[in-house]
Amino acid sequence: MEIVVAKNAGFCFGVKRAVELANQNAKPNEKIYTYGNLIHNDYVINKLANKGVFSIEDLASLNENDTVIIRSHGAKKEVFDYLENKHVNIIDATCPFVKKIHNIVHEYYNKGYKIIIFGEEKHPEIIGINGWCNDKGIILSEYDKKYFENSDKICVVFQTTFPYDKFKKIEKNIANDNKSVVFFNTICYTTINRQEEIFELSKNCDLVFVIGDKKSSNTNKLINIAKQNNKNTYLIEKPIDVLSICNNNLNTKKLVITAGASTPSELIKEVVAKMSDTQELKNLTDDVQKEATHQVEANEEVTMDDVMESVKVLEYKEGKKVKCIVLAADETGITVNIGSKKDGFIDKDDVELDQEYNPANYKENDTFEAIIIKATDKSKVALSKKNADKILKDEAEVERILNDEEFTLVPDKVAKNGGGLIGKIGSYSVFVPSSQIRIGYVKQEDLPKYVGKKLRLVQLPKRAEDEKKASKKIIKASQRIILEKEKAEKEEAFWSSMVVGEVVNGKVKRFADFGAFVSVKGYDCLAHISDLSWNKIDKPSDVLKLNETYDFIVLKVDRENNKVSLGYKQLQKKPYEIAAELYPVGSVIKGKVERIFPFGAFVSIADGVDGLVHVSQISHEWIKDANEALKVGQEVEAKVISFEDNKITLSIKELLPEPEKEVKVDDIEAIEKMEKPAKKAARPRMNFDNVNFEKPKKAKKEVKEETTEWKSADNGLTSLGDLFKNLNIDFSEEDK
Ligand code: F3S
Repeated sequence: MEIVVAKNAGFCFGVKRAVELANQNAKPNEKIYTYGNLIHNDYVINKLANKGVFSIEDLASLNENDTVIIRSHGAKKEVFDYLENKHVNIIDATCPFVKKIHNIVHEYYNKGYKIIIFGEEKHPEIIGINGWCNDKGIILSEYDKKYFENSDKICVVFQTTFPYDKFKKIEKNIANDNKSVVFFNTICYTTINRQEEIFELSKNCDLVFVIGDKKSSNTNKLINIAKQNNKNTYLIEKPIDVLSICNNNLNTKKLVITAGASTPSELIKEVVAKMSDTQELKNLTDDVQKEATHQVEANEEVTMDDVMESVKVLEYKEGKKVKCIVLAADETGITVNIGSKKDGFIDKDDVELDQEYNPANYKENDTFEAIIIKATDKSKVALSKKNADKILKDEAEVERILNDEEFTLVPDKVAKNGGGLIGKIGSYSVFVPSSQIRIGYVKQEDLPKYVGKKLRLVQLPKRAEDEKKASKKIIKASQRIILEKEKAEKEEAFWSSMVVGEVVNGKVKRFADFGAFVSVKGYDCLAHISDLSWNKIDKPSDVLKLNETYDFIVLKVDRENNKVSLGYKQLQKKPYEIAAELYPVGSVIKGKVERIFPFGAFVSIADGVDGLVHVSQISHEWIKDANEALKVGQEVEAKVISFEDNKITLSIKELLPEPEKEVKVDDIEAIEKMEKPAKKAARPRMNFDNVNFEKPKKAKKEVKEETTEWKSADNGLTSLGDLFKNLNIDFSEEDK
């Protein structure tokens, strides 16, 4: 019979260490304690009890200065706290593999992650792990999607002895459904090796022995795995158990022996020896025994470095985030230490999000995180810092969004139901309903126009029914809220700035018969035609041009009715102000007689500006009525002789040569005495305060009407005094 003892049979590193610690600390005539059975093996437990190492479950029974060993399965954090407070000496034999899980769970729980632990709910290792996340972990034995839907921060760990085949399936499910889960393969490498080895060995043998305790979880798993290939698989708790089995399997040619992690090597040796004692196994050679023993011993030569390195090798999982320490950086990329024998390498294209990689920015011993993108490379692990940065950026962005801050999104498609747009931020989907894209509803057929265009969004206020969607990583967002808020702010700013008398700049948007619509800060205001020019105009375009900008004065603000009246002419010089500059006193103008009254004629100097030629200023000759000398429409040349209060007085006479007089020298005195009083009596000094110098709007017609009216009203009986009665004639003292 051939006997093959599995290389990975028996005590694992963690159990061996715990048993050694117990043996080392046992003292004659002194009791020390283990919190629960140190391992799942009565044989070992009994041996330890003989040395004064006892198992207890009730920590309250311990006294100050007692010594207690925490077994390789580990314990809850509160157990450590309790023992420390009670001043009990703690020997922590928690297996480093298990301790690592405690640390992961503790760290991520404190970061706000939901902790999911795959394993056996009542196993001491799982109870201990859960105690490092305040007993808030969700313990599962199978993958269940619903537990992954309630949070975007999930941390997954596995019992160290979790079946590797089940682990692979769960890993696949998580990878398919939950891209952002922080996932740790915490299965102990000795467990994997042990399980894989027995799976292979059990295929080609007649009989399989699994040595261990029936209470041992990993022992039972080994039995189940071996049974998949070989029904002749048996649990061996004590050496004696082999006898009945061998009697029933007399034709066995090949026997495979493995053992659970709690099985001491001496028990394996005893079983092998027992087999050699049996008649049926008399052919078992010394060589085989030697080989078996050698394999068992080799298994015990596992160092702490080997264990930790194995953990790291298992962590070269694609998609896993690792801490990197820069070793060197050059044009091709960055070589980093990732805490294992293999170095990592980040290609230059995988360094920066903006692809602006500069090796000078990376100094030796700089640290950052990167994602493993290819773990199979023989010499180096390929990493991407860019991917890690992207995840960080997305996570930060999602956090901002969930805190109701504004964000941007370029939707990549129309929602299947046609009710809005869909985009992605990290692991979240963002849904923008049709009613929230702009102010006003967007029709379904118009939705594609918004795909690929940047939207400014904010999370929609959550309703109770939205809470479920939030848990499904869907953010419902609105651009409309932002636009409406901005509109209200803009309106407020506009109305605050519309103060009567203030000057604003506006763009002429369109014309109407009654005025021009002017856009001021995006709002339509009206400049009425009467407020566009001091002169009479036919239409607004006589003064303004479309799409040109001008300064306007605010004339009236009616917020209630959303109306603002603007004036343009009020900011322009009046015609008489212009005329004053153009035609100073003494200058000569040419103009057309516009209206004639007996007391004088109004001559048009410029558009909207008339000057009065008093009847006395028409000629050197004495004229009773201006109509006698001038005609409407007649072109005349005149001199500006005064410009007061926007009233211009002209003189034609001053441009005419004085007529020569044939007067004898002797008569001069007599003539002067006669003429002077006569002239003064005939030409009273005129005060034009009440004369309207403005050009009437319908000049010709009005002149005609005035003339007609004057004549027809009194049939020519009105005296010159009546005619001048409204002119406020001021006789000087001398005249009186
Ligand atoms: Fe530790 Fe693995 Fe053993 S977890 S206790 S070395 S089975």
